[in-house]
Amino acid sequence: MTKIFHMESNNIDEKMINNAADAIKNGQLVVFPTETVYGLGANAFDVEAVSKIYIAKGRPNDNPIIVHINNLSMLKDIVEEVTPLAEKLIAKFWPGPLTLILKKYHGISDKVTGGLDTIAVRMPSNPIALKLIEKANVPIAAPSANISGKPSPTKGEHVIEDLQGRVDIIIASEQSNIGLESTVVDLSDDKPILLRPGAITIHELKDCIGEISIDNGLFKEMEKDKVRSPGMKYKHYSPKAPLTIISGAMGNVTKEINKRTNELQKQGKKVGIIATEETKNMYNGDIVQNLGNREKPQEIMHNLFDVLREFDKNDVDVIISEGFSSEGLELAISNRLVKASGYDILEV
Ligand code: TXA
Ligand code: MG
Repeated sequence: MTKIFHMESNNIDEKMINNAADAIKNGQLVVFPTETVYGLGANAFDVEAVSKIYIAKGRPNDNPIIVHINNLSMLKDIVEEVTPLAEKLIAKFWPGPLTLILKKYHGISDKVTGGLDTIAVRMPSNPIALKLIEKANVPIAAPSANISGKPSPTKGEHVIEDLQGRVDIIIASEQSNIGLESTVVDLSDDKPILLRPGAITIHELKDCIGEISIDNGLFKEMEKDKVRSPGMKYKHYSPKAPLTIISGAMGNVTKEINKRTNELQKQGKKVGIIATEETKNMYNGDIVQNLGNREKPQEIMHNLFDVLREFDKNDVDVIISEGFSSEGLELAISNRLVKASGYDILEV
């Protein structure tokens, strides 16, 4: 039986948090909100509890898990060394949507790190997440709280749909503020590497620590043995219907999407379109979903996974999406969208 606690992050119920923290201490699984996406948490020091995360999600065993902390003394228990670059990034961006890869402390189980000698760690800013870690008084290992192969959950209803019956407690809260998973930076080598783009942009990272290289896996399919971040070698989320991205100048994009829509509809196909506020009225698709205003990429980030989940509920045959640039926050948006499309992009 899964207990479901409803709680807003600006109105924390202490009793519910204490219950959830006890569950973590007792080796149980707790789904909790963070500012990025919901997490599926267990005590990072409890190998058996961490093993249950993989089963609940249906996650491959060698895909390591991010460990969540609420204070810096916890960091010392899980990493070998807080490097000078890590100190700078921590001072600037924690608590917040930034995950750091550091050399792990030997006491951390291979179950958490997928057998690597590094560990992924982040201090979330969502008050419920922080309070839960504080009360549990242990670092919480938590991947995104979706069934493997689905988009990360950004709403209480998404986690209930995916994990009810598979975990002990679900804290269902408001829609995740940011909506895409954290930026991941690998600091375990000589040079910092961006492994996953997120709400903290390359520009902000460079401002803080200088040069940072970008992992090749961000936009193209990598040979499995060259993948730096284990999560990248697995099939990422793709919607049930094939998704194609049309990218380029907006006038060309809307024209191409409408041309394709007409052709597909003539073949009797039901067409879903992923549009933006600026263009949503220009399409004649069967279902048109609006991601938000292009002038406000935060809005688009916030909505993307919810929109993708909506399309899986509607039985469209084909999805066509507008593309996004690689600038600023749009890098993270296009990274997730490109992966969902299985790298099916047309430049017009
Ligand atoms: O925003 C987030 O990061 C959310 C919330 C819940 O905090 N968590 C999240 O976890 O997205 P997950 O497991 O879905 O994604 C973690 C990614 C995976 O691609 C994993 O392979 C990578 O981080 N990762 C974890 N440990 C790593 C390590 N030691 N070295 C390289 N990549 C690592
Ligand atoms: Mg995930």
